[in-house]
Amino acid sequence: MRIGILGTGDMAEALGGQWARAGHEILVGGRAPERAGALAGRIGARAGSLAEVARFGDAALLALPYDAVLDVLDAVGELRGRILIDCTNAIGPGFTLTTGEGPGAARRIAAATGARVVKAFNHVTPAVWSRTPPVVAAAADLPTGRPTSPSAAPSAAPLTVPLCGDDERALALVATLAEDMGYAPLVTGPLARADLLEATTAFLIGLWHSGHDPRTLLPPPSALGG
Ligand SMILES: NC(=O)c1ccc[n+]([C@@H]2O[C@H](COP(=O)([O-])OP(=O)(O)OC[C@H]3O[C@@H](n4cnc5c(N)ncnc54)[C@H](OP(=O)(O)O)[C@@H]3O)[C@@H](O)[C@H]2O)c1
Repeated sequence: MRIGILGTGDMAEALGGQWARAGHEILVGGRAPERAGALAGRIGARAGSLAEVARFGDAALLALPYDAVLDVLDAVGELRGRILIDCTNAIGPGFTLTTGEGPGAARRIAAATGARVVKAFNHVTPAVWSRTPPVVAAAADLPTGRPTSPSAAPSAAPLTVPLCGDDERALALVATLAEDMGYAPLVTGPLARADLLEATTAFLIGLWHSGHDPRTLLPPPSALGG
């Protein structure tokens, strides 16, 4: 595939690096051309302007702070129908959502652009996405972890990548990108569900930052009854 990446920071490098290694053609762009050129050199991509990148190829990743993304997308012009991959976390002080009440970041991006937005890759850090081999799901390390496929050893279950979106083709494209990194995509619902994924991520990050392990909140499925 041909993927544009808006942004030249940690998420751009982690995801763009993996996709380039998987054989995809990557065009990266940022507000500083020299940083875009340097990143392109590191990951085996090409660099372009933000406007070129936003319209490049099959889809574009929004690896920008949420508070910058709407202005950047507005400035690059028409994006109606484009597939945009939204990994942003609109998280402010106290691990609250800066989007406040109402639609979350992904839905606001979709409403502002008319693009086919898929929320993905926002729930963990670039330190995870950059790993080769891919990171194994934490639950799989626990004796009571989630079931894995019959052919996989329990400790080898890949991390799940939750995807939210309204467009089947866009979801399938992003699922392929997750699989190409060695992860297990899971479509968790329409874009409206991204509001919950964004809030859950803010909650999880708050726990991680305060030194708590979110896995301790979750009982094994066998304890849930039914
Ligand atoms: N880091 C994480 O743990 C993590 C995990 C999941 C999701 N995310 C989300 O992924 C997105 C990118 O995060 P990151 O960690 O890659 O951040 P980062 O390393 O700080 O990179 C941010 C990128 O956005 C650019 N940028 C910042 N303000 C801009 C503006 N006003 N106009 C144009 N470009 C601007 C920066 O350009 P300059 O270099 O010129 O400043 C840089 O290229 C964020 O929405 C973040 O919430 C982050």
